[in-house]
Amino acid sequence: MSRYYIETWGCQMNVHDSEKLAGTLDSLGFTKASREEEADLLLLNTCAVREQAAEKVFSKLGRLGRLKQSRPEILIGVTGCVASMEGEKIFRRAPHVDFVLGPRGLMNLPLLLQAARARRRAIDIVHHQESVLYPWQRIERGEGPPHAYLTVIEGCNKGCTFCIVPRTRGREASRRLEDVIREVRSLAENGYTEVEFLGQTVNAYRDPQGRALSDLLRAADSVEGIRRIRFTTSHPLHMTRGLMRAMAELPRVVRRLHLPVQSGSDAVLARMRRGYTRRGYLDRVRDLRSFVPDISFSTDIIVGFPGETQEDFRKTLELLEEVRFDTVYSFLYSPRPGTPAAECPDDGVSLEEKAERLERLQLRQAEIQIEGNRAWIGREVEVLVEGTAKLGGGCVTGRTIHGQIVNFPSGECRRGDLARVLIEHAAAHSLKGRFLHIGGPSARLGLAG
Ligand code: SAH
Ligand code: F3S
Repeated sequence: MSRYYIETWGCQMNVHDSEKLAGTLDSLGFTKASREEEADLLLLNTCAVREQAAEKVFSKLGRLGRLKQSRPEILIGVTGCVASMEGEKIFRRAPHVDFVLGPRGLMNLPLLLQAARARRRAIDIVHHQESVLYPWQRIERGEGPPHAYLTVIEGCNKGCTFCIVPRTRGREASRRLEDVIREVRSLAENGYTEVEFLGQTVNAYRDPQGRALSDLLRAADSVEGIRRIRFTTSHPLHMTRGLMRAMAELPRVVRRLHLPVQSGSDAVLARMRRGYTRRGYLDRVRDLRSFVPDISFSTDIIVGFPGETQEDFRKTLELLEEVRFDTVYSFLYSPRPGTPAAECPDDGVSLEEKAERLERLQLRQAEIQIEGNRAWIGREVEVLVEGTAKLGGGCVTGRTIHGQIVNFPSGECRRGDLARVLIEHAAAHSLKGRFLHIGGPSARLGLAG
């Protein structure tokens, strides 16, 4: 019996791709190793979105090269966005790698393994359009209920000038609505109560019959047993009124939207080719708030994009004050080979200055978050319990329908319960509260009631 170990970097899509890889390996008779050293097959499911992420993969591969010297029989595969971006070059830089598999070829893992076992190097980094047809029945969701990721659209047709994803994940392809709903039903039957629809631009979803994300949300909202529906990542340009209306009308769709803005400066947004202006973004936020008054927002911001001036950066800071996001994921710009922005001449702004801007942004945002979170003190919320809290102390952790993380002493709570909690403390990234009771007799394990 062969054993596998998968190491995963990067976004939710990668986490879910690893669940697909695990499912395929299970169906081939592999079992999961609990530690890397015990595995006969090692998969690195990689991220290429920033240079640092990609370099981590190569330093890891260096360490695995030494492991393979002592155990030449093990197989090593590189999957994910670094596989797609570097292709054959991986074999040159790390000759002990047996196969390279891009994110749009997961269904071909058995073929690559077969070749690797016959000691033939194998590679598949084609952007197969049919990758969305991956047999979902096989997916191995290691974590188990209550939360499940589902792919609804793969690839990205946008061309943001900083981003490697369209190159690594290819053009958009959406799954048929009925196929997604069948998976949602099966998940509900197996105790899952929260589904999260995934796509690089999830709101560009358009199935072969022309149905949009709003249609999919409506269909999922009526599946018995499902308590919460999330979707990520949305692009501001695809935030239609139909989608806003669906969010407003459907009780199970969460009141949290991840809507990456990237910058608050029109000049920078234009050079990023994001397709909207600062005003356009703010109008979307305003419209969303008129449809869903208590909606909370999270976003992504890139600091230090080529040519970003002090004035551009100030506009981004101002945008934080205007929107008051609940969470901001902020990154230092990282040039990605082959993207248009990577060709920009040096803008004369030092790395120290860019890092200092990032720190300023993060400090201010932390204050905004504490202020926002304090407004929850004294209120009662419903928390879907996800497990024990990282901080320990007998606490469990979970999320509210607005996406906030809440930690509280567990009481009688178990993973998957919907608990009523009274908020007593607020920090920048989480809330703390007192357990009141399980949210009604039917809330245990999220059974419909
Ligand atoms: N639509 C995608 C975006 C993928 S990249 C999604 O589903 O999340 C995630 C975030 O990484 C982007 O929103 C952007 O803020 C950041 N990012 C992408 N390319 C980057 C780069 N070259 N340098 C720094 N940050 C980058
Ligand atoms: Fe990347 Fe822009 Fe698509 S950030 S994933 S090219 S929407």
